Amino acid sequence: MAKVSQPLTLAPEETSSKANMNGVNGNSTPKDSATTPRTHRFDPSFTQNVINSTGPKTSPRLRKVITSLIQHVHDFARENEITIEEWMAGVNFINEAGRMSDDRRNEGQLLCDVIGLESLVDEITYKLVSEAESTPTATAVLGPFYRADAPKYEMGTSIVHNIPDGDHTYIHGVVKDYQTGEPIEGAVLDVWQAARNGLYEQQDPNQVDFNLRGRFTTGKDGRYSFYGLRPTSYPIPQDGPAGKLLELLDRHPMRPAHIHFLITAPNYKFLVTQVFDRNDRYLEDDAVFAVKESLIADFVPRKNDPKAQFELTFDFQLAAAEKA
Ligand code: BEZ
Ligand code: FE
Repeated sequence: MAKVSQPLTLAPEETSSKANMNGVNGNSTPKDSATTPRTHRFDPSFTQNVINSTGPKTSPRLRKVITSLIQHVHDFARENEITIEEWMAGVNFINEAGRMSDDRRNEGQLLCDVIGLESLVDEITYKLVSEAESTPTATAVLGPFYRADAPKYEMGTSIVHNIPDGDHTYIHGVVKDYQTGEPIEGAVLDVWQAARNGLYEQQDPNQVDFNLRGRFTTGKDGRYSFYGLRPTSYPIPQDGPAGKLLELLDRHPMRPAHIHFLITAPNYKFLVTQVFDRNDRYLEDDAVFAVKESLIADFVPRKNDPKAQFELTFDFQLAAAEKA
């Protein structure tokens, strides 16, 4: 549920030049008027020469994607008359993101997140399976804090270890086939969440390894259950290029409270998603544009359970994998 923003409208003369994608389109000189035909003042064959340099052994998909990328990036540079200094600042920015990244931190992904790219790619991927009448559970971005190999637990186990703060929550539901509604046996729910202080365990020396993470495998009834925390909103890391970009764009870094799920099951497409707390103030204003209405759920008070103050009930619907 991204903020509804004003669509970027182009002046009529800009529309015609930008619609022309054959390599000789581009920017106007400041002297252009609405009546003069628009040819930009840069080498008109340059972009096509670069595109033509791709060799015959390149795969069709890579050729298509890279041709489009070169075209758009060159148009972007021409339209904005990017200078050497500005381009170098961008290169340094990307290099800095690379230097900060390791197996515990993915600054490149974070940069994509703050400009909405991971959410857009997520939407495109989801559209491919969801154009049918009924839809599987909506997807949401993986984000940079997923860790493989989380501990495997029995159903009903708590993923909260050695941390004093937070509202303990019983989280449960059923994993189903979205077309038949039948429960799915053998679905693995890989879950992860931040602690009450807003930090994932790999960001926080005070949490034990793999705190607030776990994997749960469904039985015949498709049911899952575990104890976690009621999530809280938290800021995405601000100490690198992504944080710097947010600051330059005069934006806040907050994500609404959520729990992550990556669900796999034999013969089903995997599902990467998040479940959001309906009471969170950042639902309309997520720093990474990942909230979808159908993923918002109610955390309700839980009665007669000494292990939890809240309860979340959420069912997941998976789409069958395409047959080979
Ligand atoms: C997350 O929810 O863990 C996340 C997603 C995108 C960017 C930063 C954090
Ligand atoms: Fe998260």
